[in-house]
Amino acid sequence: MEEFGRIDILVNDAAIVPFVPYAQLTFEEWRRVMSVNVDGLFLMCRAVGDVMQEARYGRIINIASNVFVAGTPNLAHYVASKGAVIGFTRALATELGSAGITVNAVAPGLTESEGVLAGAHAAGFDFVVPMQAIPRRGMPDDIAPMVAFLASEEARWVTGSTIVVDGGHTRH
Ligand SMILES: NC(=O)c1ccc[n+]([C@@H]2O[C@H](COP(=O)([O-])OP(=O)(O)OC[C@H]3O[C@@H](n4cnc5c(N)ncnc54)[C@H](O)[C@@H]3O)[C@@H](O)[C@H]2O)c1
Repeated sequence: MEEFGRIDILVNDAAIVPFVPYAQLTFEEWRRVMSVNVDGLFLMCRAVGDVMQEARYGRIINIASNVFVAGTPNLAHYVASKGAVIGFTRALATELGSAGITVNAVAPGLTESEGVLAGAHAAGFDFVVPMQAIPRRGMPDDIAPMVAFLASEEARWVTGSTIVVDGGHTRH
């Protein structure tokens, strides 16, 4: 606000994705994932929502994941956190729609981001890619245009939606 005098777009992207089999999942690890992936997103919406409501305009895009559709193993806490993101997106869209604010979620599939390349997730490409309708690795550039569209004026009639962007890994 100090720099630009307005906030038109909020993209909630930050998240952590620690692989832990459910049998070894502690409450502390569950809380850590919820804290970053859900509490962090809530706090950002809280911080920016009032400004957008006053301006009668806003675009909020929350990054979910297609694991919520797939129920991916070893990620129960992460899958639950992304379910919360999708639920919150729907509810917030309902409450902010009359103020000119749209709230949507983008649910990517496995994507070759810095975090994925640095972690154990990269091995997942071997079994995920053959399951996709478009059998190649998803790249950040495959996800960004959907976020840009939802942030644009052209997306004015889209709200409360979750758009899966995963090369057809999950079809629903
Ligand atoms: N890459 C994938 O395969 C994939 C698939 C589905 C969904 N997603 C989602 O896309 C988003 C981006 O994922 P990515 O693969 O680019 O991840 P990444 O690990 O490359 O980047 C995540 C970013 O979040 C930041 N971050 C983490 N914890 C934070 C905290 N407590 N406070 C502030 N910033 C914090 C990190 O510094 C990093 O910049 C996430 O919401 C992730 O769940 C990713």
